[in-house]
Amino acid sequence: MKTITIKKPDDMHLHVRADDALRSVVPFSARQMARAIIMPNLKPPITQIEQALTYRKQIQAAVPQGLSFTPLMTLYLTDHTTPELVIQAKEAGIVAFKLYPAGATTNSDSGVTDLFRLLPTLQAMAEVDMPLLVHGEVTDENVDIFDREAVFIERILKPLMDQVPDLRIVMEHITTSDAVRFITQTNDSRLAASVTPQHLLMNRNHLLVGGVRPHHYCLPILKRESHRQALLEAVSGCHASFFFLGTDSAPHPQNAKECTCGCAGIFSAHAAIELYAEAFEEAGALHQLEAFASQNGARFYRLPENQETITLIKQEQSIPESFDFGMQKLIPLRSGQSVAWSLA
Ligand code: DOR
Ligand code: ZN
Repeated sequence: MKTITIKKPDDMHLHVRADDALRSVVPFSARQMARAIIMPNLKPPITQIEQALTYRKQIQAAVPQGLSFTPLMTLYLTDHTTPELVIQAKEAGIVAFKLYPAGATTNSDSGVTDLFRLLPTLQAMAEVDMPLLVHGEVTDENVDIFDREAVFIERILKPLMDQVPDLRIVMEHITTSDAVRFITQTNDSRLAASVTPQHLLMNRNHLLVGGVRPHHYCLPILKRESHRQALLEAVSGCHASFFFLGTDSAPHPQNAKECTCGCAGIFSAHAAIELYAEAFEEAGALHQLEAFASQNGARFYRLPENQETITLIKQEQSIPESFDFGMQKLIPLRSGQSVAWSLA
């Protein structure tokens, strides 16, 4: 039977929510990931250091006995984030700030309305070597939802990189050939990108053909097949070191997904590395899975590589219809179906 052993991965983009929901989902990530960059878009968002440290304790308390899992905390950038806060955050061990353009996605109401008014804050991040993680979509209502990432690169990312040249940036959950091209052509270690399993495995037909699939709705939205092919090429091609694992696993209760205005977010933490293994196998790049999952992200965040390993077996795994999620139900990616790989 085909097996592959890699250093334990890190999830460089993870939503774990709070309270009962948090306690339901953290064990899934702790089973297969060594560390995770925790997104701050709670209600209310994590904008202060104290909040992040309390949140970290809550996550640590939900890690099952016998597993080790390190949450790496981020703060939510707002119009009011000061350079002083950036310096204090660095000293407190916060690993990054997250930019949500106001209104771009789930719980982004307190997001940034005009990034270029925050230049002193962004400059402070560059000075203390604190990366900025960007949700790279414009919110202009005149821009088509399928074009919002490409427009963000032109209108925001390029000028930002010119105006704060030393700022290190992660373009989170990239979905387009435009993003891949921009990152590979920039070819500079200060710009990297995370890639989700859903954007490597699915295109927009999976969202819309044969009926609308609310559990395949996430932001940035799934794109056409040519973009998916560009992502597969990105993570396996000669510039693969700029790309790393970030699931964007984003749990919502079933009733918040299956309704007249469903939330964006796909839950994948239950089988994240197995799903990535499927994608890398499709790309003929299983030998590059370890770099993507366990090395490229650690290098960008200046973390040591994990020494523990995990082994994946090419053996079909059935995915339950749902998981408990506090008092509610959570519908996972591949609900009621299977994934081609299993964790040993
Ligand atoms: O699909 C998404 N869900 N995209 C995001 O940017 C946020 C996330 C969430 O928090 O649910
Ligand atoms: Zn996210």
